[in-house]
Amino acid sequence: MRLGLGTGSTAKHFVELLGERVQGGLSVVCVPTSEQTHALAFSLGIPLSTLDETPELDLTVDGADELDHQLRLIKGGGAALLREKIVAAASARMIVIADETKLVETLGRFPLPIEVAPFGMTSTIAAVRRALEASGCHGSVTVRRDKAGAMLVTDGGHHILDAALDRIADPAALSLALAAVPGVMEHGLFLGLATGAILATGSGLTLIGQID
Ligand code: A5P
Repeated sequence: MRLGLGTGSTAKHFVELLGERVQGGLSVVCVPTSEQTHALAFSLGIPLSTLDETPELDLTVDGADELDHQLRLIKGGGAALLREKIVAAASARMIVIADETKLVETLGRFPLPIEVAPFGMTSTIAAVRRALEASGCHGSVTVRRDKAGAMLVTDGGHHILDAALDRIADPAALSLALAAVPGVMEHGLFLGLATGAILATGSGLTLIGQID
């Protein structure tokens, strides 16, 4: 099986369990969505590839910062959204693994990550603010910083804006508006990509969509 490997604390559990199965003889080839996941998978002896070598994947398993009942997601809390979205889009199926607290009625409680090019960032931020307003969204936009206080740099060499919106009434409209802003490399709304979700609850698992 050709597998996309997600990023984040939940996806890390999946990669570790996959490593055990690979040690047991499971045959897979995997494309990681971040340098962090690449390093973990490599250390576990999981066979790795790239999307250039393996452009079509059977399944991606990844976490999410937020999801709704229609399997629309917010991702990017771990700053890997660009590669995560490219890998998910190259996969026939995408299954989200998360705990039940990530499930919401309306997306937007989690600040929406937006990956932007460093060049001309002040202009890009202003254009992002206009795109948010035009899509009926209101809230603050901040530049994400790393632990040292510097602007966070993604695996792709870009920066991340976090838009605290509270409520995204029309995710499709916002997705289109943000994608049209020059300088926006990608945004964290994953629409029409996840095919299923496995959510951990206090008493077991909740399944949404297609899992098998
Ligand atoms: C990484 O950029 C994110 O999209 C993660 O998949 C998401 O933040 C979920 O991470 P946790 O499993 O750590 O909550």
